Amino acid sequence: MELTKTAQQIIQGFDRFVMSTYKRNPVVISRAKGSRIWDVDGKEYLDLFAGWGVSGLEYCHPKVVEAIRSQVEKLIHMPNNYYNELQGKLAQKIAETSFGGKCFFCNSGAEAVEGALKLARKYGSSTGRYEVITMENSFHGRTFGALSATGQAKYREGFEPILSGFKYVPFGDFGALRSAVSKQTCAVMVEPIQGEGGIHVAPREYFQQMKDLCSHRDVLLIFDEVQTGVGRTGEYFGYQLYGVEPDIMTLAKALGGGFPIGALVVQQRLAGVLVPGNHASTFGGSPLACAAALAVFDAIEEDNLLENAKAMGAYLQEKLESLKVRHPVIKEVRGIGLMVGAELTQDGSPIAERCLEKGLLINCTAGTVLRFLPAMTVRREDIDRGIEILDSVLEEIA
Ligand SMILES: Cc1ncc(COP(=O)(O)O)c(C=O)c1O
Repeated sequence: MELTKTAQQIIQGFDRFVMSTYKRNPVVISRAKGSRIWDVDGKEYLDLFAGWGVSGLEYCHPKVVEAIRSQVEKLIHMPNNYYNELQGKLAQKIAETSFGGKCFFCNSGAEAVEGALKLARKYGSSTGRYEVITMENSFHGRTFGALSATGQAKYREGFEPILSGFKYVPFGDFGALRSAVSKQTCAVMVEPIQGEGGIHVAPREYFQQMKDLCSHRDVLLIFDEVQTGVGRTGEYFGYQLYGVEPDIMTLAKALGGGFPIGALVVQQRLAGVLVPGNHASTFGGSPLACAAALAVFDAIEEDNLLENAKAMGAYLQEKLESLKVRHPVIKEVRGIGLMVGAELTQDGSPIAERCLEKGLLINCTAGTVLRFLPAMTVRREDIDRGIEILDSVLEEIA
């Protein structure tokens, strides 16, 4: 990619002082709005990956911007040993749109997962149970608990020993799950749709059987909704696709409209498992973060964005299916709502990189899957433009 002097200078300075823990694209972003972002040279990009799902509503949504602007002058942070009205309101909003539970607020997906694991272990401790079953190919984050729960060896390599007490079973295989549950099992954790693992969807019955098994064995069912949550699938939360309620769900990414906030949401009967002194997060649920998250819910409600997510998700899948007919490199298109993957017969990274050069941001995950996580406000024209660019890239490699 051709870089201007300014971009080059910024990157050089950056690389001297920032650790290289990410594979970064040579693009310096300066602003974003809706599904569009611009680099320091004014080049425009269409983002159909919405900042890894964080800008799930869209970039700099006017309601989020206004909520942050008006809150920032009043109160940015207040420790959790005082009451904070916005945190209470946000918990109420999450309860009303989900299963009426209670929340603990934190700052990221991994932190929400850690909270879920701690609650499950504490719940199991009275009966000597500690084991957590998760899925092969899953992704739950980079902290030690979340990493131990992640069913992909490549993320754990070099960091062993990881936490003990985790078992992995194939996603979608109920028989394997049933055989894995033991007298020591305190929880099962699953993503409603596997995201990082390559957009894998499982049938409704699988989740229903899982729920029955967990209820029957008094095992907590945790849905990691960090990627599926807050409207992405066309439902507020992914579990609502399957007609089952989890005991615990984790949220982050899209929750804050771009501002960091995560949440652990638990059924009312479990809310007393963690007591003062058991768990905390200094920044968790600050007034500023909660104001941003409340604006996200307002926008979804007022602008009917769940419907848009369903309609645009179906449209995106339809367009990808028509690309598949002309480009045999696309093996399968799958997903729900605005969480869509196109599995290829070859490595997808060069394709995602070429799309970037041509002004389209998508992601390649699990080696061969092009992943699309567009913003909930995405329009048909955006999808048409994205498909046009992808089409031209696929032509080039054919
Ligand atoms: C399902 C799921 N859980 C947890 C995480 C970790 O979230 P974070 O990066 O905010 O810690 C991710 C991140 O991609 C995720 O997709």
